[in-house]
Amino acid sequence: MAKTAELIINGKSYKFPIVEGTENEIAVDISTLLEDSGAITLDLGYKNTGATKSAITFLDGDKGILRHRGYSIEELASMSSFLEVSYLLIFGELPNKDQLDKFSDDIKRHTMVHEDIKKILDGFPSSSHPMGVLASMFCAQTAFYPESLDPNRSAEGVYLSIVRSLAKMPTFAAWAYKNAMGHPVNYPDNSLNYCSRFLKMLYALPAEHYEVDPIVASALDKLLILHADHEQNCSTSTVRIVGSSKASIYSSISAGINALWGPLHGGANQEVILMLEAIKKDGGDVEKWINKAKDKNSGFRLMGFGHRVYKNFDPRAKIIKQTADEVLGKLGVNDPVLDIALKLEEVALRDPYFIERKLYPNVDFYSGIIYRALGIPVDMFTVMFAMGRLPGWIAQWKELRENKEPIGRPRQIYTGQNLRTYVPIGKR
Ligand code: ACO
Repeated sequence: MAKTAELIINGKSYKFPIVEGTENEIAVDISTLLEDSGAITLDLGYKNTGATKSAITFLDGDKGILRHRGYSIEELASMSSFLEVSYLLIFGELPNKDQLDKFSDDIKRHTMVHEDIKKILDGFPSSSHPMGVLASMFCAQTAFYPESLDPNRSAEGVYLSIVRSLAKMPTFAAWAYKNAMGHPVNYPDNSLNYCSRFLKMLYALPAEHYEVDPIVASALDKLLILHADHEQNCSTSTVRIVGSSKASIYSSISAGINALWGPLHGGANQEVILMLEAIKKDGGDVEKWINKAKDKNSGFRLMGFGHRVYKNFDPRAKIIKQTADEVLGKLGVNDPVLDIALKLEEVALRDPYFIERKLYPNVDFYSGIIYRALGIPVDMFTVMFAMGRLPGWIAQWKELRENKEPIGRPRQIYTGQNLRTYVPIGKR
């Protein structure tokens, strides 16, 4: 017998089907609620609302599980490469060697950006945050590739937009940084792999020879894998909702970049380092800062702690913590803020406030420490997150399109004034 849920509103009963996912998660399908009963559901922050059915990423917040297309994040992070994971997320299966070579070659063919995009870049003051520059350049592609605006684009056309997005993202990201530095931009060196190409564009100076450190490139590749997708978070839901209006892939992803920027989402990685620096400058009294985070009047939160879904541990944070240790060791970097981070974590995890609220370090807690060790400037941390999240956004945008999902349009409960009579301006 089909499983149903019953809801009684003002004494009248309504039945709704229960939908089960492949990992036995359950949802009450209330699609007919408004039509049948005249009521809507109210769920601020969508804490209990499933906005879609998706076959891309599974995560279980209580058990600390994260899987892409069925593969665990632990296996992908230790054995795979960022482009391999990108292919998996976007096309549903791990590529064989020929498929990966072709994908990688197609991406290499599109790493250059139109010279006129440089004029847009030149218009930004060097004080611009690179996230704003990145979002703008990403969206500007709609102007250079107007065919991407066609909502009925062929599969080949969509593939080209996907490849262009992955190819140009590192170029945009490095150029956003160069703009902030007031340096001339570097063009992509296609003899290098994805991460090395980015690093060279980021760091090379015209007057100096630059050799990419393979330890740095491989650590970055792992970090990008760890950020590649995370189902229906704030930025991904944004990409899906913008995409649901049949906006182009470039404008949908640009919206995702903007959503990611906020300090409660991807912007937290930058905030973590600023917080650790502030604690260090303040004498390193970790307990004092923990108490501040517990005081609701302080307006301060422990950045890099807590997660909407993970209520046990964030599996990405575990891998990143271990990677931070390895990378700092290999590079011979001794960062005093790592000690502060370790101590902060230790004290917070013993504190009843954090235990009761199930607040654990999230992906952003240690990622900033690695980015710093790799020489990546603080303002660029969230840009690195965007680079990593790109394949996830693309996969989710593609899935929404293939599933022919309706336009996203939530309802509301109106709490404003009832009808009143207009009073002309002189009589108010
Ligand atoms: N420091 C102190 N208290 C916290 C923190 C924190 N970092 N996070 C949550 N809390 C407290 C809240 O004050 C609240 O307490 P209360 O029940 O006494 O009112 C309780 O824990 C629940 O917090 P909510 O804000 O309701 O949880 P929500 O799921 O809405 O928020 C979020 C999750 C935004 C991640 C939150 O934990 C936070 O602000 N963390 C710091 C920012 C951060 O690290 N963001 C990155 C998230 S990961 C990512 O986006 C990649």
